[in-house]
Amino acid sequence: MPNNLWNPTQALALPDLDGLVYRSNLLGADRSVINIYGGNTSVKINKPDFAGRPTEVLYVKASGSDVATMREKDFAALRLADILPLMQRETMTDEEMVSYLNHTAFEPGRPRQSIETLLHAFLPFKHVDHTHPDAIISLACTTEGEATARKVFGKRMAWVNYIRPGFTLSKWIAQCVIDTPSVECVVMGKHGLVTWGNDAQSCYAKSIDIISEAETYINDKRSGKLIFGGLKTAALEQAQRQALLTSVLPIIRGAASAERSAILSVDDTPTVLDFVGREHAATLSQLGAACPDHLVHVKRQALFVDWSPAEGGDALKAKLKASITDYRARYVDYFNSNKSEGDELRDPTPRVVLIPGLGMVNTGKDALNADVSRQLYHRAISVIGGSEAIGTFESLSATEAYGIEYWPLELYKLKLAPPDRDLAGKVALITGGASGIGRATAYRLAQDGAHVVIADINLQGANEVAADLCKRFGFKRAIAVSCNVTDENAVIAAFNAATLAYGGVDIVVNNAGIAGGKPIEETTLADWQKNIDILATGYFLVAREGFKLLKQQNEGGAPTRKRGGALLFVCSKNSIGAGKGAAAYSAAKAAELHLARCLAEEGGEHAIRVNSVLPDGVIQGSNIWSSEWKEARAKNYGIQTTELEDFYRKRTTLKVNVTPDDIAEAIAWLVGPRSAKTTGGVITVDGGNPTAYVR
Ligand code: NAI
Repeated sequence: MPNNLWNPTQALALPDLDGLVYRSNLLGADRSVINIYGGNTSVKINKPDFAGRPTEVLYVKASGSDVATMREKDFAALRLADILPLMQRETMTDEEMVSYLNHTAFEPGRPRQSIETLLHAFLPFKHVDHTHPDAIISLACTTEGEATARKVFGKRMAWVNYIRPGFTLSKWIAQCVIDTPSVECVVMGKHGLVTWGNDAQSCYAKSIDIISEAETYINDKRSGKLIFGGLKTAALEQAQRQALLTSVLPIIRGAASAERSAILSVDDTPTVLDFVGREHAATLSQLGAACPDHLVHVKRQALFVDWSPAEGGDALKAKLKASITDYRARYVDYFNSNKSEGDELRDPTPRVVLIPGLGMVNTGKDALNADVSRQLYHRAISVIGGSEAIGTFESLSATEAYGIEYWPLELYKLKLAPPDRDLAGKVALITGGASGIGRATAYRLAQDGAHVVIADINLQGANEVAADLCKRFGFKRAIAVSCNVTDENAVIAAFNAATLAYGGVDIVVNNAGIAGGKPIEETTLADWQKNIDILATGYFLVAREGFKLLKQQNEGGAPTRKRGGALLFVCSKNSIGAGKGAAAYSAAKAAELHLARCLAEEGGEHAIRVNSVLPDGVIQGSNIWSSEWKEARAKNYGIQTTELEDFYRKRTTLKVNVTPDDIAEAIAWLVGPRSAKTTGGVITVDGGNPTAYVR
């Protein structure tokens, strides 16, 4: 039940515009009232324009913002006097409407107004809310939608049948209210609710009251009913779910990435596990989307995988492959049956995959997009449940759904998005990502669009890097995992964590390392073993697990178009140049490089590229330059430790110092699409050092 969250002390005497922002955020705080990115709110205010003339200004939510977090700057401001004459028109196309509204801007620099702006403009009230509450949509999505809603609201409600948002719907809504001024709200068939008020507080209170009435009605009817049918498949224990998910997510990801690399998210909350295990879930999930907002993020139908845990993991893999192929074919049929001239097929991959016993998997172009789909399907479950409690759920028809999915205004919004970066939708696992070269690489790859897994023995450092990456680049763009690369189980666990978080991995940067050196007779067996363990064995374990995962993803894709992946080894000048006084380190670094080249040969047929970067003398920002290693190297060259940076610069051909960012730049190229035809390659990033010239 939505609570009235209005805090009179906090919101006391808020001016109209601040009241609008406060109210919008409160509405968005409860996702059963307004979906993420859904709904819109407005206020009409008198203000002087740039020349001091009194003007009635409509502040309305801008397209693409989310009410839960929006600020004053996220509202479009339009001159109402220029908009109101449109009420006299009979028709207006979407393009005419958008172009007209663009000309009514009150001040420059504000974002573009919502597609539903006219609805707000035409209603003769100061504050207007247009929400998509679960309970209202449940009423509006039953077969007898109007009659059902009337049972709750009687004559206090006006009803409009479903049509696509735009000029006509806005006019219908305004006309209902003008014709019957006593109504308190408008319920929109298969869409949502419109409410209003003279001030922000009363407008908000009206929205909450109306929604609560609907919810009370549904809850009364629901009581004692098994809405989704009896339990057919009980949820597996968490450990079993995770084990099965780690084995099938790469296959789903491979299959879901045919058009564009997808990021997955998993939801195994009790609500979802209960829904997918119920008798009617297979049927209900195929009926269609409840409203335009859901449709955009969950597609018309979820993919329901008809599997039960008794059949085992191999059967699940086989069923997933077959059912995704079948889903894509059905989507193409839907497109062909509804398309108009000039329409181009959009990605036919499911956004929602429901697996009894396991939960829900969502796909998206990035982690945020996958999560929005996840959130919206929770709304869908709630809406379907509400409708079934009071009657029979009736979704948007295939034609109505197509009309939204291929609506030029919806497609135009997508076109406004910046073009994908090189590593959009890709996942990079970087060992030793908490410091130095690994950390610089994490930032560089995230900047290119990748989601990053920081795997490091230093979990605190990894957490700090991951948190900062999320702050800079967005929702779940990085995660941290604790991993000692010498521990086989820890390496396997790191890849499993990456799989559960994103569905798989595309790029593996083998980088975690140490440094140290002594003359050979002073090198203990333990010194030798440590170098071999971390640098040679560690790189082997990480590469092996990476290889397995990349091949599993290939399994999901079309056999002719392997998605493959990229492994990158951070080796060293010492991998090919003899490192005097650092034999153990240099021998282990040489082993890394040769391992990389062998794997390049093994990876070719699977579209897995393996390349290496050879840095040297990266002192700034690196932690391997501990005082002990600095002293050893300085002693080796007969200089003071304070002279090392200068020494390294002077010994390079280009007379430069090398930084972690320089190495990260080479890595970004070698793991990205611009080096698609390079494997087994070696790039030195050392300022020029003839002993390491590749031959
Ligand atoms: P760094 O010390 O700044 O970073 C290394 C990271 O690896 C640290 O975050 C550390 O916690 C992590 N790490 C160490 N042992 C680990 C283990 N067993 N499991 C998981 N994580 C572990 O060092 P830097 O300079 O960034 O070095 C990165 C790589 O570059 C290393 O492989 C190093 O050998 C190589 N390299 C560095 C050069 C330099 O001059 N800095 C020159 C040539 C190669």
